[in-house]
This record gives sequence, C-alpha cells and structure tokens, in this order.
Amino acid sequence: MSGPIGGGVNVAETDLPKPEGLEGVVAAATALSHVFGEEGRLVYRGYDIHELAGNASFEEVAHLLWIGHLPNRTELDAFCAKLWDNRSLPEGVLTTLRALPADAAPMDALRTGVSAFGAIDHQRFEPAPDLDEAIALTARVPSILAAFFRLRQGKEPVPPRNDLNTAQNYLYQLFGVVPEKRHWQPLQVYLVLLADHGMNASTFTARVIASTQSDLCSAITGAVGALKGPLHGGAPSKVLDMLSEIGAAENVDAWLTDALDRGERLMGFGHRVYKAEDPRAEILRGMAEEASDPDFFALSKRTEDRALEMLAERKPGRRLYTNVEFYSAAVLAAVGLPGDMFTPTFAVSRTVGWTAHVLEQTANNRLIRPQSEFVGRTDKRFTSIDER
Ligand code: ACO
Repeated sequence: MSGPIGGGVNVAETDLPKPEGLEGVVAAATALSHVFGEEGRLVYRGYDIHELAGNASFEEVAHLLWIGHLPNRTELDAFCAKLWDNRSLPEGVLTTLRALPADAAPMDALRTGVSAFGAIDHQRFEPAPDLDEAIALTARVPSILAAFFRLRQGKEPVPPRNDLNTAQNYLYQLFGVVPEKRHWQPLQVYLVLLADHGMNASTFTARVIASTQSDLCSAITGAVGALKGPLHGGAPSKVLDMLSEIGAAENVDAWLTDALDRGERLMGFGHRVYKAEDPRAEILRGMAEEASDPDFFALSKRTEDRALEMLAERKPGRRLYTNVEFYSAAVLAAVGLPGDMFTPTFAVSRTVGWTAHVLEQTANNRLIRPQSEFVGRTDKRFTSIDER
C-alpha cells in the first residue's frame, strides 16, 4: 500500500485498504536517508551507515546531511567553527530553564528550551528556515540539556568550549570536565548512528509543521514531543529499567515470560520498517561489548537472545528483531549518562536530521494535509439544552 499524502485522493470514496498508522504510505520524497527494511540497511545520502560509523565525525555527518557531501578539511574547519561558535544560550533561555522544577523530565526541559529559544530569538527564526538557523539550533540543543542537567542538581551551567567537538563538549558541559576519549568516542559513534532515519514519526512531525510555513523552532519543538514517546525514542531508559528489574541471568526467562503473558511490549525490539536486524543495533552491540561493564553486557546479551527466541515463538511471522534502542542503553550508560538523559541525547543527534528534513521540505513545499476516513454519523438534529 503506498500513495503520496496530500495527493488529492478522497480516501472515503475509494476501496483501498486503510493503512493503520500510515504504514507503507509514502509521505515525502527525500534524498537524505533511507531505511531498507527487508535488508536491514540504513543509507545517509548514498553512504551505508557502516561506512560512516567509526569513520566519520558527527560534524562530518551533519555537513553531509545538511549540505549534501562529506566536507574536505577546509570546509570542515569552517563548518565546525560555525557550529561550535553557536553553542552559548541566550540569557532568556537559561532563565526559562532555571524556572523549571528540578524533577521535570529532561525531554520536557528540552522541548521548553527549544520553544523558548524560538520566542526569545524569534527574529533569527523568521521568515523561512535556513541553514544558519539549523546550525544555531543544533548547536544549542546539547547546551540546553547540559544546562538543565546541572541546574536540577543545584549546579551552575558550564559555558561551552569552542575547541571541543560535539560529543566532547556535550559531556564537558554536563559534567564540567573534559571527557576521556573512551567516553566521547562511543558517544560520537552513537550520534552518527542516530542522525537521521527516513520518515520516522518525529521527522514526519517536523515536516508537517514546516509544511504550514511555520518556523524552525516550532517544527523541532513538535519533533521533540514526538520523539519522547516509548514507541519511538523513549524506549532506551525503559530498557535500562527492564535490565535492572531482571537483575541476573537466572531471572531472564521468568521476567520475559511474565511481561509477554501480560501482553507487554519488550522495549528495544520490533520496528515498523526493519524486518531484519537494525544495522545500528549490530554496531551498538559491538560498542556495548567493548565499553560497558562485562556483567551488564552479559545480562543484556542473555536478555536479547531469550527475547528474540520468545518473540519468534509467540509472534511467528512478525519478524521482530533488536532495534537501535536496546544497546543504546548500554552504550549511553557506559558513557556516564543517567537513564533519563538517553532520549534527550538521541535528540542531540536527531536535530540534524529534523532540521535537514525541514530545509528539504521548505525547498519544495506543499502543505501536508492528508484525509481521514469518516466513520461518524451525519444525521443528528440540534436540541436545546433543556431537551437533552
Ligand atoms: N514486544 C512484544 N511484541 C511486539 C513488540 C515488542 N517489542 N513489537 C511488536 N510486537 C508485536 C505486536 O504486539 C503485534 O502483535 P500482534 O499482531 O499479535 O498483535 C505485532 O508484533 C506487530 O506490532 P505492531 O504494533 O503492528 O508494530 P508497529 O510497526 O506498529 O510497531 C514498534 C513498531 C512501535 C517499534 C513496536 O515494535 C514496539 O512497540 N516496540 C517496543 C518499543 C520500542 O522498542 N520502541 C523503539 C522503536 S525504535 C525507534 O523509534 C528509534
């Protein structure tokens, strides 16, 4: 089932099957990235993700997605200088973050911070989104998160440094010390892996908002909200919760059986598009084995193996495999991040993809306005309030 959204089809007048959750519907044309679900492949502008992970820096990938090619050294130096010089937050954004309760979820703080940025620096974000805005917003997302992370502990935000790359500076602003390579390098690979992913729910959200000719901050605020849900980017902290509840290898079978008997979904498994292993999961598994505590990795692997066996038994034909979120948890924990910073760190990376999609949508825009199948009644008559 496929057909362009907003292509003028009156769904109610056709006999086409209705795609639940828009499954299989082509919602936009994009040259940015594609998920080849049957093969388990992910491509960014022509490069298989295996070509980029561990070889390209996050900044090179941002350049690739936004500008269309991998930069040469001169281009990269100029590009990094621009990105890194944009990290400081306007005072008004910091004031907004200071006003949030310490127990607010970091994703809510990020959504608020991006939205505040749009209101406080609104002249920058008008009229149509452009690359400079994408760079400014992407540079500030880690600063927003790091500032809130510190404020909620009663600490002052750490000003950014413009001699550190994105992964280094994010950890520096979070923890106040320049990170060791064994911490920032896995984070950088993680950021490369998560930068874009076809027409996922949050990217679609950003494109829908951009298609109304709204501003970039509104599009990214909406995307943050969409990413937060556990069926999308909100799963990795729940993976960590699952692994801590399981606790030891001997509990794996009983825990998974109980969860599946209750009809629960196992976090970190299944995907709308991948019907083979998510290539990012494969790369992250290798990184988790190197970076995380051996006992934690062994528990993760045992849980993964048994979950795959049980899902194959209970959901034959569904082709449920490990998704990116399962080993994200182990990698991000090894980097030193607490569970509630996992999804926000996903957003640090995906802001590149979201903004690239907004720019692509804006360059060739048509309002995204699909149809619905009307299943309500049409024959009711008004009665006054006393007659009801
Ligand atoms: N655990 C148990 N059963 C599952 C799981 C899972 N993780 N995923 C899918 N299923 C089952 C469903 O119950 C359904 O079974 P049924 O047909 O017998 O009712 C069948 O597989 C198909 O599921 P759908 O809901 O149709 O799959 P959909 O494409 O809508 O959902 C999703 C994809 C949301 C990722 C789903 O697999 C899921 O909920 N996974 C767990 C949450 C998770 O890991 N989220 C992160 C996704 S990756 C990302 O967005 C970055």
